[in-house]
Amino acid sequence: MKDWLWWRDGVVYQIYPRSWSDSNGDGVGDLEGVRRRLDHLSWLGVDAIWFSPITRSPMADFGYDVSDYCDIDPLFGTLDDFDRLLAEAHERGIRIVLDWVPNHSSDRHPWFEDSRSRRDSPRRNWYVWRDAAPGGGPPNNWYAVFGGRSWTWDEGTGQYYLHTFLPEQPELNWREPALVEAMHDTLRFWLDRGVDGFRMDVIHALAKDPGLRDNPEIEGARPGRFGQQHVHDENHPDVHPIVRGIRGVLDAYDERMAVGEVYLMDPTEVAKYYGEGDELHLAFNFSVMKTPWDADGFREQIERFEGLLPEKYGWPTLVLSSHDEPRHASRYDHPEHGDARARLAAMLLLTLRGTPFLYYGEEIGMRNVEIPADRLQDPVGINIHPKASRDPERTPMLWDGSPDAGFGSSDPWLPFGPELGRRSVAAQRDDPASLLCLYRDLLALRRETPALHRGSYRGLDAPPGIFAFERRHGDSRVEVALNFSDAPQRWQGSGGPVQGGLCTRSGAALPGDTGVDLGPAEGVALILPGG
Ligand code: GLC
Repeated sequence: MKDWLWWRDGVVYQIYPRSWSDSNGDGVGDLEGVRRRLDHLSWLGVDAIWFSPITRSPMADFGYDVSDYCDIDPLFGTLDDFDRLLAEAHERGIRIVLDWVPNHSSDRHPWFEDSRSRRDSPRRNWYVWRDAAPGGGPPNNWYAVFGGRSWTWDEGTGQYYLHTFLPEQPELNWREPALVEAMHDTLRFWLDRGVDGFRMDVIHALAKDPGLRDNPEIEGARPGRFGQQHVHDENHPDVHPIVRGIRGVLDAYDERMAVGEVYLMDPTEVAKYYGEGDELHLAFNFSVMKTPWDADGFREQIERFEGLLPEKYGWPTLVLSSHDEPRHASRYDHPEHGDARARLAAMLLLTLRGTPFLYYGEEIGMRNVEIPADRLQDPVGINIHPKASRDPERTPMLWDGSPDAGFGSSDPWLPFGPELGRRSVAAQRDDPASLLCLYRDLLALRRETPALHRGSYRGLDAPPGIFAFERRHGDSRVEVALNFSDAPQRWQGSGGPVQGGLCTRSGAALPGDTGVDLGPAEGVALILPGG
């Protein structure tokens, strides 16, 4: 076992590239913008950046519809810009993780254009084509995630093609060996350039029922995507050999990592994607992100996943926010304790066992921004319902209080929202009591404390409302107590003397032992003697 393994012991920071830093003033962030802001990430102390897709795309789903897996979209820059950014990030000890979208391409990808050109195209079988059902209509009862049926009729060749998301995102056929080889090559393209890992989009959907059978309907539910049990259109057992094939590509290189978006709410199924150490290195466990603000709820989800992970190869992930979910500072907001809760959530994320994934802006407590109807961008908000839009969590980073927020354009693709001028990196960086400085302090504590970045997890008894646990590695031992309730609580812990650690309450002195009075939404992480 290595002493320090970046993807296991480190912390990953997700950048939504459209919204982080805009170097050319076109209203959309870009790679050169990121390069100029690398200082922020070094200062914060993260180990890796995960970029939401920067490959070529018509942007029907903002990059999750790829028209060339081996080039940078001109909106974000060029391959040269990418190489420069990668080199500078590596010089700083920051790894680069790319989003890889293997489940579907863009309908404008040359592969799909070829596939749909004629029935006997050599690439016909790279996508999933079927005749209409007897009597007409789609071949089965599947529905798309982004509205409507999963099947779109192609007039030219007289068949339907499958898509789990938009019609502009046709499903790739992973049962076709030539497609598998072509997709493996796209990984090698970036691995050869020095990319350290991939976040693999909807990886659990790569295999479907070979007979494309109907999904069973849920009795009494409204017909549609949510009225079915998704037993045939995702998580088919054949997905595992496919993932092993992908892992084989990465294993030919040194220390590369695959983290999968296994968007299944059943952690038992998610845990299977670690295989025998021959599938994913990490899988997102979204059940934690879906947990309401509740000590027992978090404890239950964490312990459930801990219990399911294969002992030898399993290592959890910790995520509270992403480009697909409302920001957690908004989800967990509270009229009185909102800011304290954001601080407590930071401690939860950075002291538990597993690799934390931070979402840009959470380090300054960015909230969701309400988007006026005429500025909606996300196809989900447009097709399904404005309330389902993911735009509110994708607004530009607030760097400083100037009219362009230091983002680089005063007319960005999504509005800055009401916090412009109130919340920013610049305002928080020099204030030791800020959320931003708490994130930095927690990251530093985590890095220098083996119990926190490597240690085992053990739940501790605690009064209702408190989630308490111990982390331990060799002589290094930490007890963490997090008060999720809105009332003050006393926590006893195992004793002392406290040798270091952090309190989420700004300015609070560390206690001498583990007997602590915790205010509403307050937490402590206390370093204790080992043994
Ligand atoms: C994943 C991405 C999401 C995207 C979808 C389709 O869930 O995280 O943003 O829209 O896949 O690619």
